Amino acid sequence: MKSNLVAAFLLLLFSLLAQVDPNSRKKKGPQLQLPMERKVDRRSRSETKFLLYSNTAEEGCLVEYRQQVTLEKCRFNASLPLVMIVHGWSVEGRLEGWIWKLAEALKSSLPQTNVVIADWLTLAHAHYATAVQGTRRIGQEIAHFLEWLEESMEFSRDNAHLIGYSLGAHVAGFAGSSIGGAKKIGRITGLDPAGPLFEGMSPTDRLSPDDASFVDAIHTFTQQQMGLSVGIKQPVAHFDFYPNGGTFQPGCHIMHVYNHIVHLCSALSSPIPPPARAGLTQTVKCAHERSVHLFIDSLRHAEQQMRGYQCKDMQTFDKGRCLHCRAKRCNTLGYHIRKARVAESRQLFLQTQSQAPFKVYHYQFKIHFINEFQVKQIDPTFTISLTGSKDDVENLSMTLVEGITGNKTYAFLVPLDTDIGELMMIKLKWEGIAIWKNIWNTVQTIIPWTKGGHRPGLVVKTIRVKAGETQQRMTFCSQNVDNLHLYPGQEKMFVRCEFSY
Ligand SMILES: *[C@@H]1O[C@H](CO)[C@@H](O)[C@H](O)[C@H]1NC(C)=O
Ligand SMILES: *[C@@H]1O[C@H](CO)[C@@H](O)[C@H](O)[C@H]1NC(C)=O
Ligand SMILES: *[C@@H]1O[C@H](CO)[C@@H](O)[C@H](O)[C@H]1NC(C)=O
Repeated sequence: MKSNLVAAFLLLLFSLLAQVDPNSRKKKGPQLQLPMERKVDRRSRSETKFLLYSNTAEEGCLVEYRQQVTLEKCRFNASLPLVMIVHGWSVEGRLEGWIWKLAEALKSSLPQTNVVIADWLTLAHAHYATAVQGTRRIGQEIAHFLEWLEESMEFSRDNAHLIGYSLGAHVAGFAGSSIGGAKKIGRITGLDPAGPLFEGMSPTDRLSPDDASFVDAIHTFTQQQMGLSVGIKQPVAHFDFYPNGGTFQPGCHIMHVYNHIVHLCSALSSPIPPPARAGLTQTVKCAHERSVHLFIDSLRHAEQQMRGYQCKDMQTFDKGRCLHCRAKRCNTLGYHIRKARVAESRQLFLQTQSQAPFKVYHYQFKIHFINEFQVKQIDPTFTISLTGSKDDVENLSMTLVEGITGNKTYAFLVPLDTDIGELMMIKLKWEGIAIWKNIWNTVQTIIPWTKGGHRPGLVVKTIRVKAGETQQRMTFCSQNVDNLHLYPGQEKMFVRCEFSY
């Protein structure tokens, strides 16, 4: 279902590309180039409208480029930092709801800030390829706006933070690369930067770490179809976050999404009727726009900051192998990121919940199993229950990616929705279904009991745990030291012990 969704979106995208005027028709498809545009004259009128957001109403005060009086009228305070929101390609041609939500979240958690919305809808509402061609120009206009603020007021570009969503992320990048002088803009945040026509391009033709003193990006919809994805997959920042792997987001598989797709696919052979187009916008929005909502969450839930961990890929992350924070290997997702200087892009992974607050608490469990039937691989189902200093969780099912053989340590990630505080006790249960018990009993009659007087089983002596969020390492030992054997249907208790390997 989710690949249908992406395929439908990309078909829509390319059907729109095909509708571009005849001149650009021959350039259709992935060969389409991002043209080098002429420099926009600094004295020319600005296509982009700059709206200073001041209160909770969904409107802004129009600051007109090179009209100093409008700065005063809108009460722009040049000694305060500036956060500018740059929207992306717009199917609907209006400022979407997320813009106001983000502006409101910024203003309410950072009242001492100028929040400006860069409205470039006149170009963003065009066909995708045309909008892409306009990104460099809009970037230059934003750069000119910042230069004008510096010249006419005591404003410093160090204090500017551009937040661009989708195509707007590349607009922000172009603003950063085209601003005059040697000094860079303070920060650029790319929220699921657009993929089509940018993936694989040189750093000067897309958002890149060179565009500001500090660049961060959140990738939320990079699932590929026909070699393309809605969000860019490659790293484009100093710190690139890939929540849930970055491909797709939890909670975005909604049933009514499917109905829209059915309508859409049948409609794709002919021109797309507006209702299907609107439905599609809703469906694609979910994972793509999740990047914005994660960022908003970082402002709204200051006490529940999400943390990303440097890792090779999501498969490795899901084994719990990447929860280490030494040497700048982890960072905070969203507004409150640590602006560490790094020479190369860092790719950070994390899991999230399906709705706000999105934070999950990541734990790595390492369990050493000795399978006493060394010849036989077994695939048991375990559940674990955790007792913490603040809260408990019960009956989490634990998935081992591989069956248990001989004598080996297994590592896996346990994500928790709640903050349980410090972990105090673990209960490990072997979910023994009836069939398993039968097999087990047969096995026992074939293989003789071990010398210690115990039936052969799985021996679990210790469980080692690492908490990602607190970086605490703990060791848990079986409460019953006389019998370390675990059998189907049985639950064992493990308590903290100062046992170290
Ligand atoms: C601008 O902000 C600064 C710092 O908060 C404040 O001291 C100053 O009064 C503000 N200026 C205006 C004109 O509001
Ligand atoms: C966990 O499982 C036990 C035993 O199967 C059951 O008694 C208990 O109610 C379950 N707890 C939750 C929260 O589901
Ligand atoms: C398991 O392996 C370790 C080292 O690899 C070894 O010291 C230990 O004796 C083994 N235990 C069993 C029961 O085979």
